[in-house]
Amino acid sequence: MTETHVEAPSLYPPDPEFAANANATEALYDEAEADRLAFWAKQANRLSWDTPFTEVLDWSDAPFAKWFVGGRLNVAYNCVDRHVEAGIGDRVAIHWEGEPVGDARDITYSELKDEVCRAANTLAGLGLKSGDRVAIYMPMVPEAIVAMLACARLGAMHSVVFAGFSASALRARIEDAQATLVITSDGQFRRGKAAPLKAGVDEAIESLGDDNPVRHVLVVRRTGMDVPWTDGRDVWWDDTVSNASAEHTPEAFDSEQPLFLLYTSGTTGKPKGIMHTSGGYLTQASYTHLNVFDIKPESDVYWCTADIGWVTGHTYIAYGPLSNGATQVVYEGTPASPDEHRHFQVIEKYGVTVYYTAPTVVRTFMKWGRELAFGHDLSSLRLLGSVGEPINPEAWRWYRLVFGGDQTPVVDTWWQTETGAAMISPLPGVTTCKPGSAMRPLPGISAKIVDDDGNELAPSPDYGEHVTGYLVLDKPWPSMLRGIWGDEERFRETYWSRFAEQGWYFAGDGARYGTNGEIWVLGRIDDVMNVSGHRISTAEVESALVGHAGVAEAAVVGATDEHTGQGICAFVILKAHHADMSRDQMIDELRAEVAREISPIAKPREIHVVPELPKTRSGKIMRRLLRDVAEGRELGDTSTLLDPSVFEAIRASK
Ligand code: PRX
Repeated sequence: MTETHVEAPSLYPPDPEFAANANATEALYDEAEADRLAFWAKQANRLSWDTPFTEVLDWSDAPFAKWFVGGRLNVAYNCVDRHVEAGIGDRVAIHWEGEPVGDARDITYSELKDEVCRAANTLAGLGLKSGDRVAIYMPMVPEAIVAMLACARLGAMHSVVFAGFSASALRARIEDAQATLVITSDGQFRRGKAAPLKAGVDEAIESLGDDNPVRHVLVVRRTGMDVPWTDGRDVWWDDTVSNASAEHTPEAFDSEQPLFLLYTSGTTGKPKGIMHTSGGYLTQASYTHLNVFDIKPESDVYWCTADIGWVTGHTYIAYGPLSNGATQVVYEGTPASPDEHRHFQVIEKYGVTVYYTAPTVVRTFMKWGRELAFGHDLSSLRLLGSVGEPINPEAWRWYRLVFGGDQTPVVDTWWQTETGAAMISPLPGVTTCKPGSAMRPLPGISAKIVDDDGNELAPSPDYGEHVTGYLVLDKPWPSMLRGIWGDEERFRETYWSRFAEQGWYFAGDGARYGTNGEIWVLGRIDDVMNVSGHRISTAEVESALVGHAGVAEAAVVGATDEHTGQGICAFVILKAHHADMSRDQMIDELRAEVAREISPIAKPREIHVVPELPKTRSGKIMRRLLRDVAEGRELGDTSTLLDPSVFEAIRASK
């Protein structure tokens, strides 16, 4: 694989003043290098263990890792109770900012602990036991975080389903995990309007028919809208949690007790339930949050703009910040509600010091223009973070200049749902950054860029041809996924088969080394698209399209998009009896079908009705060529194509 990539020559060394007070120093790398397992044991011991672990890592059953063997702990105790016991119960844990202006609430660690205990008592009363699965389908309200912690407290696994997902996507996740409880809200505020949520839960459950595993639905009142109700099954949060006892003794669970499932897109149409466990996950969530974001729990006001429906919301809203006793902002809405000033107003209102968002958000702000920011006092910001997709150097510089007054460090953090926590990232105060590069693996983490045969690539020159290779993680890490729910074979096949001989984890990303050996992640090389930082598989969208009665065949590719990173481009062949339907009408219908089946975020940017799809002689759709078409490029090698003339027809349809 080769590509031409112009690397920005400038370097951003750490500010000496920042470095003098930074949590992390160069010594952290040395320490991890000298004895990796001792290093992780030290990080794990920042947590409170009910029973100390006796072994750091058991990798004898690879690729199934056991971290902190023999140790027992309660994750929720580590996130709330121990801070109250340490005397910081009055510290604000969450400054919650609702989407409607003026709808805000501060929650201290004491209050959070009481609410988690009440919720845990309620869940136990509903029959929830250790090991059970709970689907959480909620907007960004404090109760969503309380619900996650209440599950953790009982040793039950949560499976948070992004509230923007459809009833059909929720149904598939409830079914796969066999969730016995769903926690939801009546509705959610989205761009100033109340939209139903509970109704979608009912639809999902009804469509499961006799196989429905759900025994109860716990409903938070958020919008006050009317909801469909099933007596005996449905209960209001207000009537139960709010009246429950705030006394609850946490039970200690094994370090490998499953903590959560989070479904993510793979290369097939069926989402995979990525499984994370307790001790190792919390160790790395806590350690990376402290060092990558340089968190000073007594003084920082941290804000991660992700949704709890994604892994970033799990690790850097729920578990990382709370395990560190930090104060954070949780915001319910979108950046443009009620107008484009909202994020800046939130930063000003709470004096946000650390802001962590996605490149797509930065690019949206760029589109809106810097004048917007200049009307606000953003001087409280002292560190900026980025996650979800490669951040282009221009956006990186703009972010630092406009948000950070050209002063703050920017940490570009590379990781995945599967890795559980940040893996490759600068350390603020230590790393000299190159805009657009996630730089090097964090202390304790090992990554390599290799060719097809597993040989490590060499650093690339500044300009000209660069060699792209596969990003692999060649040593186990504490917050690594422990499997795919119910599908051991798929787990081995997806992540561990590409470099089986070496025993490395293949991340699915292409990357290259820069001149100083730093890592440039270039994006997915499999059939997974990245749209505004959301992972969507081509197969998932294809299966939604062919689910429509009028579609005979569909092929989906991700094409470069200036604002969203990638845009979804679909090519569809219609069935003969639908060919006379108006094209525009059909395209509208298909876009709606994808929104219904998956989520509005998966709606194709463009749909082309074509007479044929380019296929190899063995019948495989040649996506590479479709990508060329979608991106308006000259066609690459078409020699393996069965019928090269199909392209004239495809181009004509554009
Ligand atoms: O392609 C990489 C991209 O997002 C993928 C992981 O997506 P997901 O599991 O949804 O988790 C996103 C939040 C952690 C990766 O395989 N990605 C994530 N962060 C970066 C990135 N690509 C480049 N640079 C990043 N900082």
